[in-house]
Amino acid sequence: MRIALGVTGCIAAYKSVEVLRGLQKRGASVTVVMTRHATEFVGPLTFQSISGFPVITEMFAPTHDPEIKHIQLAQSSDLLLVAPATANALAKFANGIADDFLSTLYISSTCPVLVAPAMNSEMWAHPATSENVRRLRERGVQFVDPEEGYLACKTVGAGRLAEPDTIVRRACEIIGLANGSNVAGDSCTRPADMSGERVLITAGPTQEAIDPVRFLSNRSSGKMGYALAEAAVERGAVVTLITGPVSIAPPKGARTIAVRSAAEMFNAVKDNLADSTLIVMAAAVADYRPADVHRQKMKKNGRAMVLDLEQTEDILASVARDIHEKASRIVVGFAAETESVIPNARKKLVEKHADLIVANDVSASDSGFDVDTNRIALVSSEGVTELPLLSKREAAEHIIDAALEIRRSRPLSTP
Ligand code: CTP
Repeated sequence: MRIALGVTGCIAAYKSVEVLRGLQKRGASVTVVMTRHATEFVGPLTFQSISGFPVITEMFAPTHDPEIKHIQLAQSSDLLLVAPATANALAKFANGIADDFLSTLYISSTCPVLVAPAMNSEMWAHPATSENVRRLRERGVQFVDPEEGYLACKTVGAGRLAEPDTIVRRACEIIGLANGSNVAGDSCTRPADMSGERVLITAGPTQEAIDPVRFLSNRSSGKMGYALAEAAVERGAVVTLITGPVSIAPPKGARTIAVRSAAEMFNAVKDNLADSTLIVMAAAVADYRPADVHRQKMKKNGRAMVLDLEQTEDILASVARDIHEKASRIVVGFAAETESVIPNARKKLVEKHADLIVANDVSASDSGFDVDTNRIALVSSEGVTELPLLSKREAAEHIIDAALEIRRSRPLSTP
């Protein structure tokens, strides 16, 4: 695996040396690209000695190699990792400015991009930076968010570069995913902290037939549920995914059961519930279905048509009620809302007897249906945790972490 490691000009640049070593230990071949300001903090020779490759610091350095260097590097890299990334680097990436080697490499790259920002907390909180981060996330750039801590400017706040080990793990995770395998071995992925877990996930919409050619449905793409399945598989769980009709590929390593209607989904959930330890209901189940399904295609007759609808089973409420006494099982539901997101999610937590509700505002353009990002809040009896805009995969990891944490905080019992 080949990684281009971009280093930009901030005090945390010295930590990139550790990132480089971590990547190399896991077998990666790393080419380091430094911005001019980065070289003020750490000498290129340090990176060169460790990586064993020349460090790129200039856009137009004379060379005997006839290839155009940034294109060559962009095409041969499996990942572009930028750590640390300054506010300036984020602004350039977000706006397509290509005025040095690293920003030109970014705009020429088609491989996954992982960015670990580091800056003063005011700069990180500034609306310009937030907007740039949002735009980059929307384009699929992944982030290892900065941590809270003591900063070089002698203040305490969010902005400190994430730990090198965390950055290395995320980088390896992405490359393992991109190649469809764990390229660098076990040490490179998240810990298999879900081995022994049996996870049941619902995903996607349901379709409720009106007649042989028409149905009622909704805009769910299934992406959030599929991301949860992928994350759980990678963390060592045995995963059963019960999915409504979607147009995305089934996640590798999960047992996928395709259903169409809410009633079919309910039956499939009941059939597969027995030994599951974590149940995540991410499906956007239809709340109503036509009371009568016409056997033949309905014909228009020039008058208004009224459909008689009946309510479907609430799968989550039914499942959580039945297994509520079994304390080691965790039930996670979603709350797709367009207003009063948190109060509605709290209501669903109580009324549906869930252990955790993942609330999201599905009316926002970067969150909810059919986009790759999500802005979620985790609502449990312990309180509400609002998360920033994340890729659905990142959101999935947080949801799983929160569910496992609820389990850890409970007394043990057999499912
Ligand atoms: N859910 C379910 N069965 C249903 C409806 C919803 O299992 N018939 C689950 C969803 O999978 C989700 C949670 O319940 O985990 C909340 O779904 P949501 O659509 O947000 O809310 P509803 O319960 O349908 O309520 P409302 O439409 O009134 O918001």
